Amino acid sequence: MSTNRKLVVANWKAYVTSRKDTEALFRAVTKSYAKLPAKTRPELVFCPPFPYLAQVSGFRFQDIRFGAQDVFWEEKGAYTGEVTASMLKDLGVTHVIIGHSERRKHMGETDEMVNKKILAALKAKLRVILCVGEWQQPRTPEDEKTALDYVKAQLEKDLARINASAMKNVTIAYEPVWAIGTGIPDTPREAAEVILFIRRVLAKQYGAEIARKTQILYGGSVNAENVVSFIREKTIDGMLVGGASIKSSEFIKILESLARTD
Ligand code: PGA
Repeated sequence: MSTNRKLVVANWKAYVTSRKDTEALFRAVTKSYAKLPAKTRPELVFCPPFPYLAQVSGFRFQDIRFGAQDVFWEEKGAYTGEVTASMLKDLGVTHVIIGHSERRKHMGETDEMVNKKILAALKAKLRVILCVGEWQQPRTPEDEKTALDYVKAQLEKDLARINASAMKNVTIAYEPVWAIGTGIPDTPREAAEVILFIRRVLAKQYGAEIARKTQILYGGSVNAENVVSFIREKTIDGMLVGGASIKSSEFIKILESLARTD
């Protein structure tokens, strides 16, 4: 585990679709967050859709940061529709989610693209939140091995050419795809086992210290009820929350439970 402080990433996906809703959700969450004890509350990264990043990213509050849900790999140029790392930096954005399974599935994002995006983000001094995870829920020991092999291959391809010193700016989110948005989370024990496996893969590549210090999150149907059981697993450094992060009262409960259990 990297630090005692947990990290919560609020991935709004394309759920929030107006400035008005952005304002209401952001205000409600930050107001409650500000009341949590500064010593134990989790770090919080809001990842709204691109058009709303500028609306909130000027907000300054201790332990609150802003992340994009994607970034393009080139620095600038004739790339209609793309958002570059320097544009994000200019908005005060500090984090970027890369390789989310929804982008891999719907936008055909490959490991090679993910790798180029990570390199571009790190070059621009953005902190990367790299998402990895298997697609099918393992049911047999053989399935489990297949899933671990898949995650290992993803890590190796996505982190190709990323050297040890850059790893301090990489957070990994283990998100079993079958658990995302389904209401069927992984069990905390199994998630912790895969995260320990990820640490072993990192240890081989970068050494034991980096493997231990790398921040690794769990994501996939996290809600106010199950969050505490995940966080009890010491190897899990925080949560990437999708659906529950846009319901203000539920999300506030998640933040409150983490502030209590730290
Ligand atoms: P979920 O999404 O919390 O809605 O399952 C998680 C994610 O996509 O990262």
